[in-house]
Amino acid sequence: MRKKIVAANWKMNLDLTEGAELVNDIFNGSPELNENKIVVIAPPYIHLTHTSAQLVGMNHVHLGAQNCHAEPSGAYTGEISAAMLKSAEVEYVIIGHSERREYCHEDDAVLSKKVNQALANGLKVIFCCGEPLAVRDANEQNAYVESQLTAGLFHLPVTQLIDITIAYEPIWAIGTGRTATSAQAQDMHAHIRKVLANKYGETVAAETPILYGGSCKPSNAAELFACPDVDGGLIGGASLKAAEFLGIVAAMSNA
Ligand code: 13P
Repeated sequence: MRKKIVAANWKMNLDLTEGAELVNDIFNGSPELNENKIVVIAPPYIHLTHTSAQLVGMNHVHLGAQNCHAEPSGAYTGEISAAMLKSAEVEYVIIGHSERREYCHEDDAVLSKKVNQALANGLKVIFCCGEPLAVRDANEQNAYVESQLTAGLFHLPVTQLIDITIAYEPIWAIGTGRTATSAQAQDMHAHIRKVLANKYGETVAAETPILYGGSCKPSNAAELFACPDVDGGLIGGASLKAAEFLGIVAAMSNA
């Protein structure tokens, strides 16, 4: 049975006090979770140790990071390695987010190296893909996303796919308030699952969680998560307020 996941990507938001309060509120308000219905919280690096301590005793809520470096160690001022994340009890790392592709110029080659570093250090990967508006308007989104998956992930042997979650985040829906319709999300998620099946077989495709991201909120989460190939969400803005995030977690829990 594949997992349902709601993952919080705080991006560059919340100071230490605000972050601790938010985790505390999530702790107090979380609906029933289990090993197949989980939450991941990915705060900025500086929060990780403290958030990790807060999550002790909070069942099925896992710690994530928003990035790691493509090299194992060395003279990369300001960077954080996958091994460092592992030592801070991090379990998941987001790789390939469109904001890092755009603002940090992370290309397919560097992203595939990051995936390798993460997996080699025992981290699970949330690999992001998604098209810009011009590609959607040209109706070329399927080929675009397939090429992102091929370049970033398809060098992996089938045995490593167990540690991969995919997040489909159409760039035109991120932080814009313009959510993909549930039909658009379902179409793309079904396409991604078919691409996975072609490369790795039906069993792997059926077991890989595929999350939707982009202006997901309590008011649209239930409809999105009811789609057969939408296995939860990667949440930006709505993950910063406990009530909104918990509303989305509840939608996942009830799906
Ligand atoms: P929003 O939920 O703010 O649109 O962000 C989505 C996202 O980029 C999560 O990684």
